[in-house]
Amino acid sequence: MNVKDETYRILIQNRREQDGFQYTVPSPTSYPYQWLWDSCFHAIILTQFNIEDAKEELRSVVSHQFDNGMLPHMIYWKRTDVINIDWGTGETSSITQPPIIADAVMRVFEHDNDVTFLTQLYPALSRYYRYLLSRKRFDGGLLGIINPDESGEDNSPRFDAALGLPPANTLEENTAARFALIERNKECNFDEQSCMRDFFWVKDVPFNAFMVQNLRTLARLAEKMGMSDDVNYFASEAEILAQSMRRDMCEDGVYWSVYKSPLQKIKVLTWAIFAPLYAGLYTQEEAEYCIVRYLRSDRDFATPYLVPTVSLSDPAYAPQGFWRGPTWIGTNWFIYHGLRRYGFHDDAERIKHASHSLLAKSGFREQFDPITGEGLGARDFTWGGLILDML
Ligand code: GLC
Repeated sequence: MNVKDETYRILIQNRREQDGFQYTVPSPTSYPYQWLWDSCFHAIILTQFNIEDAKEELRSVVSHQFDNGMLPHMIYWKRTDVINIDWGTGETSSITQPPIIADAVMRVFEHDNDVTFLTQLYPALSRYYRYLLSRKRFDGGLLGIINPDESGEDNSPRFDAALGLPPANTLEENTAARFALIERNKECNFDEQSCMRDFFWVKDVPFNAFMVQNLRTLARLAEKMGMSDDVNYFASEAEILAQSMRRDMCEDGVYWSVYKSPLQKIKVLTWAIFAPLYAGLYTQEEAEYCIVRYLRSDRDFATPYLVPTVSLSDPAYAPQGFWRGPTWIGTNWFIYHGLRRYGFHDDAERIKHASHSLLAKSGFREQFDPITGEGLGARDFTWGGLILDML
């Protein structure tokens, strides 16, 4: 299989047009709507094919921004009976997803320096990150999420304790707990500041790490816009958040998600320990420790088809358990770029090679068994195209 041809076939097949907008669905049967972080991935992949399509993908994903600045994690466009979850509004969900859109806009902008495009997108970005900074944290500290789905890793074991679940739980139990939380979300009108902090409110490592990285990117975009107040504001918030992460999340050499008050670390060993590499949050020595101790250890993450989303040594590990073990190309993409940032090129190559082998063996599936490479979940799933952005 030629992965470039297959990526393009799927991107075109999964493209939809509605109300004058163009967007891409992650999978035609399992995921027939637009998702926030998926569209960021799509835009990055589309830069390799047609830069105007990449811009359209980002224009559509900001088209349903809330008055308070939030970007919803799902825009339905045309509702079907697939994924019939009531997220509180008619046209979109009422929660967000990992804040990687500044990085996606930068990647598109760097391609052809289209100032008109940046000028169109910048106000939505500025409002979104201001919303995150003002509504999703208290006392200027870490950002919390109101539901596991805001992390993009819906049933990750990092969220078991906050949902009141044991480490080994079935998808049915997990889904029931998350649905019960949606009812709380609705009672709170999805508002962090009034009451959502009383229920779940996990401060997750990848979400906060992506936020640091993207605030820095946003400061660079503000510079291109000639908006010096924004440059200073976003750049300084990035450093404040990086310091909070170090103070509240670091222990035993790695970053852990936290919850409760006073903060407790959630010692569940997942790929999240590698997410800070993407944002450059480890020192070189810390990064080396994390890679040698965990990424290269066959008791933890060094499986034939790396990188499992949960360590083999964690009680929650389930090789076919959605976000509880399988390898996803999206998480591999973050780890790949994180490793290169620190100069671990051989490790990065191994991840690229494993990702490629998975696509060649099992096709563009949603996730993969990290031991056997068996394809799992949705078919014709777009994220496999991120292999083209592993240089
Ligand atoms: C699943 C994933 C989420 C993704 C969505 C659409 O819900 O957990 O990360 O955005 O599917 O692909």
